[in-house]
Amino acid sequence: MGIKDCYNTSDFRKAAKKRLPAPLFHYIDGGADDEVTLRRNIEAFDNCRLIPNALADLTGMELGVNVLGQDIDWPVFCSPTAMSRLFHHEGEHAVARAAHNLKTMYSLSSLSTTSIEEVGASTPGPKCFQLYIHKDRGLSWDFIDRCKEANYSAICLTVDTLVAGNREKDLYTGMTIPPKFTLKSLISFATHPSWSLNYLLRRKFELANVAGKIDEGTGELSSIIEYINNQFDRSLTWKDAEQAIERWGGPFAIKGVMSVEDARRAVDVGASAVMISNHGGRQLDGSTAPFDQLGPIIDAVGDEIEVIVDGGVRRGTHVLKALAMGAKACMVGRGYLYALAAGGQPAVERALIRLREEIERDMILMGCRSIEELDRSKLHFD
Ligand code: FNR
Ligand code: LAC
Repeated sequence: MGIKDCYNTSDFRKAAKKRLPAPLFHYIDGGADDEVTLRRNIEAFDNCRLIPNALADLTGMELGVNVLGQDIDWPVFCSPTAMSRLFHHEGEHAVARAAHNLKTMYSLSSLSTTSIEEVGASTPGPKCFQLYIHKDRGLSWDFIDRCKEANYSAICLTVDTLVAGNREKDLYTGMTIPPKFTLKSLISFATHPSWSLNYLLRRKFELANVAGKIDEGTGELSSIIEYINNQFDRSLTWKDAEQAIERWGGPFAIKGVMSVEDARRAVDVGASAVMISNHGGRQLDGSTAPFDQLGPIIDAVGDEIEVIVDGGVRRGTHVLKALAMGAKACMVGRGYLYALAAGGQPAVERALIRLREEIERDMILMGCRSIEELDRSKLHFD
């Protein structure tokens, strides 16, 4: 399936499946345990229905929002995702540049394969850095200082990954980091020669922000799960979040908030935003969906903090439903990752353009000219 034949997230998913060796495709695609939460994230949107109005003069449309201090042209931006160069040799640059061209924000993972500085120089567009606090606190605080130097716009601290989720597909497929040509994965690599050649001939794999600082950043890892379990600090508390917020001194989000209690704590420690997220169903399986928690969190803290929804967004109508419930914006992870794997920057741009066009079309079909006109009266729940 060529990129030109891809019209939606599901098409890009099929194209990614074709281009990537199985261990890499399933690393993107999979979730934890039985993937109940992975499915629920999408179903939660689909189980809610939109109620349109008609004949409302829909010439002119305003979709821009200000999120984490940044003006973006439409209410969706890119979630942070690890190790983009594994999926396409253009890696993080491709997504950062596509996001900039589409006038939205890019988020860079702590576990990226392109460094904070390189991505900082890659585009002048708004960038959010995703912080994983490592046991090595010096290294973690250094990330914050490096982001200041490299002119990042915001930081988000991910709080749902003190231990890695149980992603059994990675075990079945033999997903190692860096990918190894083992007996188990060999056939898959051999039957995807364009990916394999690029992987072998282009820049060597590294976790670019920690390379040279932690042995596991450059040396052989057996898996990302092992990295997380060895390096991330399980003793983290809200005090640490507060310290990170103070050190950064700018727009700061807590990513991975699911309960009203935690949203309240995020307000108390001085965060500017919460990203309601269960890590795309990759961590705690059986967890409720971000869209399910949106109403209660908005009702509790919506006028004190920005509320962003992350997880399960596959269609423009999903974004409209989140905005109608009161979210400030949505984030997408797999929505651009499948496209990255399928065809690098042009494909990511096409995926983002298609999503934006869906939102514009759906707004007209809903009889809404601006985001303010979307409210809960436009939603029907069973
Ligand atoms: C992620 N996610 C993630 N989150 C984070 O805070 N740091 C990270 O390094 C990663 N890495 C990562 C890798 C891959 C392959 C995926 C699919 C996801 C989670 C990500 O930011 C986001 O929460 C989910 O992707 C949202 O769900 P959807 O949009 O994929 O349904
Ligand atoms: C993941 C980690 C790296 O979801 O956040 O794979």
